[in-house]
Amino acid sequence: MTSVLSFLASCTLIAASVRAQSSEDTFSYVQPLNTTILGAYGHSPAVLPSPNATGNGGWEAAHARAQAFVAQLTLEEKADMVTGQPGPCVGNIVAIPRLNFSGLCLQDGPLAIRVADYASVFSAGVSAAATWDRTILYERGHLMGLEFRGKGAEVALMPVSGPLGRSAYSGRNWEGFAADPYLTGVAMEETITGVQDAGVQATAKHFIGNEQETQRNPTYNASIAIDYVTFEAVSANIDDRTMHEIYLWPFANAVHAKVSSVMCSYQRLNGSYACENSAVQNGLLKTELGFQGYVMSDWGAVHTGVASIENGLDMNMPGGIGVYGLFPQLGSLFGGNLTRAVSNGSVPESRVDDMITRIMTPYYWLGQDANYPSVDESSADLNTFSPRSTWLRNFTFTGTRSRDVRDDHGEAIRRHGAAGTVLLKNENGALPLKAPKSIAVFGNDAGQDTQGFYNQVDFEFGTLAAGGGSGTGRFTYLVDPLSAIKTRAAQDGALVQQWLNNTLIATSNVTDLWIPALPDVCLVFLKTWAEEAADRQHLSTDWEGNAVVDSVAKYCNNTIVVTHSSGINTLPFADHPNVTAIVAAHYPGQASGNSIVDVLYGDVNPSGHLPYTIAFNGSDYNAPPTTAINTTGKDDWQSWFDEELEVDYRYFDTNNIDVRYEFGYGLSYTTFNVSDLQASPIEADITSVPGSQPIQPGGNPMLWATIYTVTVSVSNTGGVYGAAVPQLYVTFPDTAPAGTPPKQLRGFDKVYLAANQTQSVTFELMRRDLSYWDVISQEWLIPSGEFTLSLGMSSRDIRTTTSITPVSGGNYTRRAL
Ligand SMILES: *[C@@H]1O[C@H](CO)[C@@H](O)[C@H](O)[C@H]1NC(C)=O
Ligand SMILES: *[C@@H]1O[C@H](CO)[C@@H](O)[C@H](O)[C@H]1NC(C)=O
Ligand SMILES: *[C@@H]1O[C@H](CO)[C@@H](O)[C@H](O)[C@H]1NC(C)=O
Ligand SMILES: *[C@@H]1O[C@H](CO)[C@@H](O)[C@H](O)[C@H]1NC(C)=O
Ligand SMILES: *[C@@H]1O[C@H](CO)[C@@H](O)[C@H](O)[C@H]1NC(C)=O
Ligand SMILES: *[C@@H]1O[C@H](CO)[C@@H](O)[C@H](O)[C@H]1NC(C)=O
Ligand SMILES: *[C@@H]1O[C@H](CO)[C@@H](O)[C@H](O)[C@H]1NC(C)=O
Ligand SMILES: *[C@@H]1O[C@H](CO)[C@@H](O)[C@H](O)[C@H]1NC(C)=O
Ligand SMILES: *[C@@H]1O[C@H](CO)[C@@H](O)[C@H](O)[C@H]1NC(C)=O
Ligand SMILES: *[C@@H]1O[C@H](CO)[C@@H](O)[C@H](O)[C@H]1NC(C)=O
Ligand SMILES: *[C@@H]1O[C@H](CO)[C@@H](O)[C@H](O)[C@H]1NC(C)=O
Ligand SMILES: *[C@@H]1O[C@H](CO)[C@@H](O)[C@H](O)[C@H]1NC(C)=O
Repeated sequence: MTSVLSFLASCTLIAASVRAQSSEDTFSYVQPLNTTILGAYGHSPAVLPSPNATGNGGWEAAHARAQAFVAQLTLEEKADMVTGQPGPCVGNIVAIPRLNFSGLCLQDGPLAIRVADYASVFSAGVSAAATWDRTILYERGHLMGLEFRGKGAEVALMPVSGPLGRSAYSGRNWEGFAADPYLTGVAMEETITGVQDAGVQATAKHFIGNEQETQRNPTYNASIAIDYVTFEAVSANIDDRTMHEIYLWPFANAVHAKVSSVMCSYQRLNGSYACENSAVQNGLLKTELGFQGYVMSDWGAVHTGVASIENGLDMNMPGGIGVYGLFPQLGSLFGGNLTRAVSNGSVPESRVDDMITRIMTPYYWLGQDANYPSVDESSADLNTFSPRSTWLRNFTFTGTRSRDVRDDHGEAIRRHGAAGTVLLKNENGALPLKAPKSIAVFGNDAGQDTQGFYNQVDFEFGTLAAGGGSGTGRFTYLVDPLSAIKTRAAQDGALVQQWLNNTLIATSNVTDLWIPALPDVCLVFLKTWAEEAADRQHLSTDWEGNAVVDSVAKYCNNTIVVTHSSGINTLPFADHPNVTAIVAAHYPGQASGNSIVDVLYGDVNPSGHLPYTIAFNGSDYNAPPTTAINTTGKDDWQSWFDEELEVDYRYFDTNNIDVRYEFGYGLSYTTFNVSDLQASPIEADITSVPGSQPIQPGGNPMLWATIYTVTVSVSNTGGVYGAAVPQLYVTFPDTAPAGTPPKQLRGFDKVYLAANQTQSVTFELMRRDLSYWDVISQEWLIPSGEFTLSLGMSSRDIRTTTSITPVSGGNYTRRAL
C-alpha cells in the first residue's frame, strides 16, 4: 500500500521511449507486445477448488479451535471476518464481543511498526541480508515482533521476499533481502520464526512476481468512474521452472517456517491478477506448499469478489473498493457482496468457513486469544491511511496510550547496522581509522535530518537510514554520521570540519576547507533514495554523488566514501587512486551514525557481504522494469521474465560479464583461509526423484531432508578478531536442463573467529538444494552425474572445490506423466 498522493503521482501517461544505453542515464524500457509467446506462459490455468486447511503440520489443535469459533458465527459476522474495515491500524478486522474476539490489528511493515509512536526503526531487509548472519536475522525479527505485540498489533505485514531483486532498478528491493532465492529463503525463515516466537503473526509478501513498481496497479480514469480502468496492471509472465527455482523458493521457506499469512501482490501474473490467480494461490501455495494459513490481499489488490474467493484469496484488505481500497464508504467486493454471494449460492459457505478457519488457526496457535495487548490508541492518531473520519465502525480502546515499546532495542539495532555494513575497497590501510587528528566530512547524507523523522520524500539535507512508502518507519531518534563522528573524534582531540551542500562541493575547490592543511581523512557520505510505487531512475548515488567524490578526491589523497543506499550503486569512482576506501552501509536504521562509526574506527570489524552484484554500468544489468508500452490495448502492459533463471549473479556468470564487486563480496580488517572441504552423503541410495510423502507446510518433506553434509575449516589469518562468511555454491552436472546457471548459492555461515582461530563449519545440503524443477514430471529431480561444490568468500572468490555424484548411472527416473 502507499499514500493517495503517491498513487496520483504514479498515474503517468504512457511514454514512448527506449532504454538509454549510456550507463548512468535515466532509462526507460519499452516492452514490445509479443503475441507469439502469450501461449507459452502468458496465461494461468485454473486450479479449483480452493483446498480446505487441515491444520496439518502442528496446527491441528489450533485448527480445531478455529473451526469451533467459525461454527458460532452468523453469516454477517463471517463477512466481517474476511473483510477489512477502516480503523486504527492500517488493516482492521472488527471485534465480535459476544465471542470474546477483540479483532485483528494489521500493521506495516518490514523494518518497523510504522504507524506507531515510541517504536524502533530497525535496519532494512537489504542491510539484514548483508549480514549473512542467521542469529541477527532471527533477533531482528524477534525484537520487531515484540514491538508489534506491545502496540497491540496481531499481524505484522512482513517480511518481504517479493521483490526478490530481478531488476536492479526496482523501487522496493531494499524492503526484501537478497537477489538470490537461497539467501532470501533463509532470511525469511529466520525473520518469521523470530516474529512468531514473539506471539505475532508474520505475513510473507508480496506473492508473487512483484518485481517492479511501475504500473503495479491499473491506470484508472476517475473522471469516468472511481474504478474505471484504462490499462490493467503489468503482467509478470513467468515460466514454471523459473517460478519454482527463483520466485517461489523463498516463499516455500516462509511456509516451511509456518508463516501465518501470505499477502498476494498488486500486479497480474501470467495474465491474471495475483489475488485472483488460482494457479499460484490454490495450486502452488495451498496445494504444493501445503500452506495452512490465509492469503490476504495487498491494499486494494482485489478486483473481483466471487472469483477472488474461488481462486484462493481469504481476506480482503483494507476492504473498500477502488484504488488502494480507499473507498470503504462505496462498499466492498467482499462484505455485503459476500453475504449475498453465499445467500444466492454463488459461493459455498464451506469456502467462507475455510477462509475464516485459516485466519483464526494461527491466531489460536500463537495464543493471541489470551492476554494480548490492546491496540495503542496512538496508532489511530498517526494513521493517515484510514483516519478517524473514515471509520464506519466503533473501536474501543483500552490500555495505555503511547506505550514505549523500544526497550533496549537500540543497542541491537546499532549492532545490526554495523554487521550489515559492507567494506568494498580498502587500500593503503585507510581503514580502520587510526586516531586521525583532522577529519573533513562531506556530503548531504552526513548530517541530521532536516525534514522530520517520517520521511516520504528524497529530501536534500540529512542522512538516509530507511526508504519510503509503507515499508518505512517513524524515527524517535536518528543518530546521524556527523554527530557520531564528532563524538568519537573528541576522544582523540581531533578537528572535525564539515561541508554538507553537494552542489557546492561538486562545483568548488575543496582546499578552501583545508584548515590548517590537508586533512588526515576526507569522509564523503552519499545517499540513494528508493520508495514504494516508483522504480529507480538510475543506479548512481543521488544528489550528484559522483561529482562530489571527484571534487573531494581531486585534492584529498585519503578519500573514504560511505553510501547509505537502497541497494545497487554503480561506483564509477572506485578506481580513483585517492578513493582509498568505499563502504556500503545501506539503510541501517535509527543507530546509523553509531553503526558506521563502529566500523570506521574498527570497534567492529566489517563482515557484511553484498546480497547483490555491483556491475560496472547500469546498462550491464538485465531485466529492466517495463516502464512504458507503445500500444494502446488495455491488457498490453507485459513484463516477460524471459531471462528465466538469470537473476543477478546467475546472469553475470552465465554470460561471463566482468563486474566491479560480485555477489557475496565483502572485505574485512583481517584475512581468512579455508581448507579441507569435504562432502559426505547422509544415505547410500539417493534417488533422483524424492520419495513421495504427505505434504507438510513447505511442500514434500523429502525436499527438506539433508542428503549431504559438507564441512570446511575456516581460519582467521589476519591478526584481529573478525567474522568470515564462507559461501557454498553448487554447479549442476550437464545432465541438468539447459538454462541451469553455472553456480548457485546453497549454503553459507557467519563464523566469528579470534586471531589465529580455526573452526570447522558444516553446511547441510537438502534435497531441494541439489534438485531442479522438472516441468514435465512436475517434480524436483536430482540430475545424474557429478556436481561441483565450490567454497568461496564470494561468488567469484572461490577458494576450494570438491565434487559429488548423488545419483549415478547416467539415467534418472522420471515419474510418468
Ligand atoms: C514499438 O514497438 C514495436 C514492436 O511492437 C517496435 O518495433 C517499435 O520500435 C516500438 N517503438 C518505440 C518507439 O519504442
Ligand atoms: C516473440 O517470442 C518468440 C518466442 O520466444 C521469439 O522467438 C520472438 O523472437 C519474439 N518476438 C519478438 C518481436 O520479440
Ligand atoms: C471443505 O470442507 C467442507 C466441509 O467439510 C466440504 O463441504 C467441502 O467440500 C470441502 N472443500 C474442499 C475443496 O475439499
Ligand atoms: C468470554 O470471556 C469471559 C471471561 O473470561 C468468559 O466468562 C466467557 O465464557 C467467554 N465467552 C465465550 C463465548 O468464550
Ligand atoms: C458490491 O460491489 C460493488 C462493486 O462491484 C460495489 O459498488 C457495491 O457497493 C458492493 N456492495 C456492498 C454491499 O458492499
Ligand atoms: C458507535 O457507538 C455509539 C455510542 O455507543 C453508538 O451510538 C453508535 O451507533 C455506534 N456506531 C456504530 C457504527 O456502531
Ligand atoms: C547549496 O549550494 C548551491 C551552490 O552554491 C546554492 O545555490 C544553494 O543555495 C545551496 N543550498 C543551501 C541550502 O544553502
Ligand atoms: C584550488 O586551491 C588550491 C589552493 O589554493 C590551489 O593550489 C589550486 O590551484 C586550486 N585549484 C583550482 C582548480 O583552482
Ligand atoms: C590525489 O590527491 C593529491 C593531493 O593529496 C593530488 O595532488 C592528486 O592530484 C590527486 N590525484 C588525483 C588523481 O586526483
Ligand atoms: C597524502 O599526501 C600527504 C602529503 O603529501 C602524505 O603525507 C600522505 O602520506 C598521503 N596519504 C596517503 C594515504 O597517500
Ligand atoms: C598468531 O600467530 C602468529 C604466528 O604464529 C603469532 O605471531 C601471533 O602472535 C598470533 N596472534 C595471536 C593474537 O595469537
Ligand atoms: C538410459 O535409458 C535409455 C532408454 O531407456 C537407454 O537406452 C540407455 O541405455 C540408458 N543409459 C544408461 C547409461 O543406462
